[in-house]
Order: sequence, then structure tokens, then C-alpha cells
Amino acid sequence: MLLATSRLTLRRFREADAPELAAYRSDPDVAHYQGWTAPVTAEAALAWVHAFAAGSPTEPGWFQYAVELTAEGRLIGDVGVRLHDNLRQADIGYTLATAWQGHGYATEAVRAVLADLFETRGLHRVAAECDARNLRSAALLERVGFTREGMRRQATWMKGEWTDDLLYGLLAADRP
Ligand SMILES: CC(C)(COP(=O)(O)OP(=O)(O)OC[C@H]1O[C@@H](n2cnc3c(N)ncnc32)[C@H](O)[C@@H]1OP(=O)(O)O)[C@@H](O)C(=O)NCCC(=O)NCCS
Repeated sequence: MLLATSRLTLRRFREADAPELAAYRSDPDVAHYQGWTAPVTAEAALAWVHAFAAGSPTEPGWFQYAVELTAEGRLIGDVGVRLHDNLRQADIGYTLATAWQGHGYATEAVRAVLADLFETRGLHRVAAECDARNLRSAALLERVGFTREGMRRQATWMKGEWTDDLLYGLLAADRP
């Protein structure tokens, strides 16, 4: 286990997670504003899981936390952190299976990761971006304290259209 909250365990991905990962990332609603296209094949999920498992949360680059509902020992989503080369900044992203949305689990997982990044590891800034139409994602970022810093208009070519990106930032100094 890497991090724990009252309801969740954030741990490294393992091979046995591939079917569940494929299932929730194959949901068109989950994939809608994300870089992959649903459905996700079993092979693609296995390749992801291998890549996620090989990452390090303390080295530059992306690290993907598997988010498990502790009471059920069940994978319900993931949180990704991209640590910059300077080890003082990071980008964050997150995904929750549809069935587990609406219970505060993403908020709880992201808060735990932010506490680790700022309080334990001394980061200066964490940034996040989301499609301007992704209201649940924007609401989550604002709920955990991010400031909306701007919007890039038609800056991403996503699934056949140009999309607007909301830009969010959270500084160590913003934390209570
Ligand atoms: C973005 C995403 C993770 C947000 O999920 P979410 O379920 O809205 O967020 P949370 O898990 O924190 O749940 C918050 C909701 O649970 C409610 N809730 C219920 N019990 C709660 C509790 N104990 N604590 C906090 N909130 C609780 C909140 O009121 C809120 O509901 P509301 O949206 O009706 O106001 C989810 O929509 C998702 O995975 N989308 C697909 C992937 C994606 O787009 N990722 C972002 C790319 S930028």
C-alpha cells in the first residue's frame, strides 16, 4: 500500500487489475473526455497495467495509483501523477468507474495524493487540466482547493473536434 484513507487504499497496479481496468475504461461515459477511445481491449489494459506497475511515484514521469475500495478489496479507479524533472511540480489526473461516482471517493483519493505531494514530499505546485465541458472534473478540482487559472480555447484535438481546456493550479501556499 502506498497511501490510505478512511475508505480507500491507493496502491501500485498489478496484473490482476487488467480486467477491471478494461471494464471501467471501456465505459463511453468514462472515456468521453479522456485520451483513450472506448472500448479498451484486454491486451491494451494488460499493457497499461504493466506500464503502470513499472512506474515510480518518486521519480519524474507519470505514476498511476490504483484506487481500491478497502472494505471490498475492489479496484474502483485510478489517480495519475506526473512528477516534473525538478521534483517540485506535478500534474494530476483521475478516473473513477461510473458505478462508484457520486460518493466522494475521487475527492478522498485526490486529497490523499495532494497531502502526500505537498506535506510529505514538499512540492511547490500541482496543476491539472480538463475539458471545459467536464463539469464533474472541474467541480472535483475546485472542491479540493485548485484555482482556475484560465482556459485554452480549442487547444486539443480530441475525438474528431477541437476542445477547450480549463487550466487549474494549486500551490503549497494555498493549502490551509
Ligand atoms: C471526474 C470524476 C472522477 C469525478 O467523480 P465524482 O464522483 O463526481 O467525484 P467524487 O467521487 O469526489 O464524488 C463527489 C460527489 O459525491 C457526493 N458525495 C457523496 N458522499 C460523499 C462524501 N462522503 N464525501 C464527499 N462527497 C460525497 C458529492 O456531493 C458529489 O456529488 P455531486 O457531484 O452531486 O455534487 C468522474 O466524473 C470521472 O471519473 N469521470 C470520467 C473520467 C474523467 O473525465 N476524468 C477527469 C479527466 S480531466
